Amino acid sequence: MKIAIGSDHGGYALKMELIPVIEKLGFEVKDFGCPDEKSVDYPDVAFPVAEAVADGEYARGIVVCGTGIGVSICANKVRGIRCALCTDETMARLTREHNDSNMLALGGRIVGVELAKAIVSTWLTTDFSKGTRHIGRIGKIEKYEA
Ligand code: RB5
Repeated sequence: MKIAIGSDHGGYALKMELIPVIEKLGFEVKDFGCPDEKSVDYPDVAFPVAEAVADGEYARGIVVCGTGIGVSICANKVRGIRCALCTDETMARLTREHNDSNMLALGGRIVGVELAKAIVSTWLTTDFSKGTRHIGRIGKIEKYEA
């Protein structure tokens, strides 16, 4: 599974901690920037990551900014993206099981590094439950988007 990852300056340090964790889980990961802690605008990173996932080039995307909010707002504007801002492992598990989220947003100034690593591991390794009620609800989102 190919994973796209990106951050602004507020998420840069956490992103750099997460990349080896993702690789260790056996996934291929591409960093869409930013390349260092110099200030950048989060939409300039979040939109390319979300588009790469929506296009099917990458199976999943992870975006990190200071709070996780800006990047999640951007990602969820892209048709086909279901981006979940998670602050604990339960949210990470449930958004995969219930929402089949294809993007994860994290706040580099909100969650600690070890917690973020656990969130990412859970989110990447939890399958969609494929329950009829969840499929129906996602279908309603897709219908609204169409
Ligand atoms: C940048 O200072 C900060 O606004 C950004 O990282 C993010 O938290 C926005 O939602």
